[in-house]
Parts: sequence; C-alpha cells; structure tokens
Amino acid sequence: MLGVTGSIAAFRAADVTSALRKEGIDVRVVMSAYAKRFIGELTFSTLSGRPVITDANVGDFADRPEHLALGDVADLFVVAPATANILAKMAHGLADDIVSTTYISVTCPVMVAPAMNTRMYDHVTVRENVATLRARGVTVIEPDDGFLACGDYGKGRLAATDTILAAIRNAL
Ligand SMILES: Cc1cc2nc3c(=O)[nH]c(=O)nc-3n(C[C@H](O)[C@H](O)[C@H](O)COP(=O)(O)O)c2cc1C
Repeated sequence: MLGVTGSIAAFRAADVTSALRKEGIDVRVVMSAYAKRFIGELTFSTLSGRPVITDANVGDFADRPEHLALGDVADLFVVAPATANILAKMAHGLADDIVSTTYISVTCPVMVAPAMNTRMYDHVTVRENVATLRARGVTVIEPDDGFLACGDYGKGRLAATDTILAAIRNAL
C-alpha cells in the first residue's frame, strides 16, 4: 500500500507505482487531499490498475471501510513522499484523513520517505517526529542532499526512486 502526501515530489510516486506493478506487485494507493493538488488520482489508478482511495471517495468501494479493508491485505505500507504534516500525524496518532487513518489501521511493516525543504527537515519538531517513528519500528528512507524544487540546497529531496524501490523489495 502506497500513501502519497502533498509534496512537490508526489509525481515521483508514480514511477514507484509503475515499477512495482511491472514487477508483479499489487499496489493500492491512498492519497491525501493535498497530494491531489500535485498529481491526479487518475495517474495512480491507471498505473496501479486499482481504484485510488482519497477522502473524496472513501466509503465508495468496500462494504468494510477502506482503511481497514486495505489493512487486512497489506504486506507493507509505504508513505512516499511523506510530508512534515503526515510525519507529525503518524508520530502522534492523528487520524483525520485517509493516509493517517490507514497508518493506525495496519499491522504490517511501515516505511516513510520524507521529502521537504531542508529547513523543514532540520526543524526540531520534524526531527523528533522522525525519531519517534523510527523508535517505533518505522523504516525511514532518508531524503537526499541536493538542489530542492524551491531552489534551496540541502537535505530534504525525496530519496532516489531506485533507493525507495530497493527498500520496498527488501521489506517484501
Ligand atoms: C508548492 C508546494 C510544495 C510543497 N512541498 C512540500 C514538501 O515537499 N514537503 C512537505 O512536507 N510539505 C510541502 N508542502 C506543504 C504541504 O503541502 C502542506 O503542509 C500540506 O498541509 C500537507 O498535507 P498532507 O500531509 O495531508 O498531504 C508544499 C506546499 C506547496 C504549496
């Protein structure tokens, strides 16, 4: 299961979805409302061959709520890209949208691939939330150093697609 949140790097999750499906992995995508401002759910439904679950359509597909139905079958939950916001919600147990609710509904291993401006990634709240998640057993796919979409330079760029794919294959 792939959670996509509202980062400029959200388009890179399309490559992850496509590559996994080509390897025969069944990918189910859940998207935050903000993620939909960066990339359309049609991209993910086409690439995954599955309906994409968002807050706008949750409840439409299953007789069991989707966050539970998906959690029943998920082998791995990966949030990529993971915003500062979803990291905070995951660290503190907030469940106010489909991505955060799914996190606290799954029993499978969880991974996050943070992506954000370097000042955000350096902020003490983000560092503490990442540390909390790591201590809880969540695998953190560290962001890379480099030029960021905003023009700044530093750590915060979503990890390379191959790095994310290798981490997923390894976990599966
Ligand atoms: C152009 C633009 C790019 C953004 N990129 C990021 C990002 O890479 N990482 C991040 O944590 N937040 C980013 N944000 C802010 C998030 O979209 C915002 O915090 C939002 O509330 C996240 O919601 P979500 O976690 O539910 O998707 C960006 C906002 C804008 C307008």
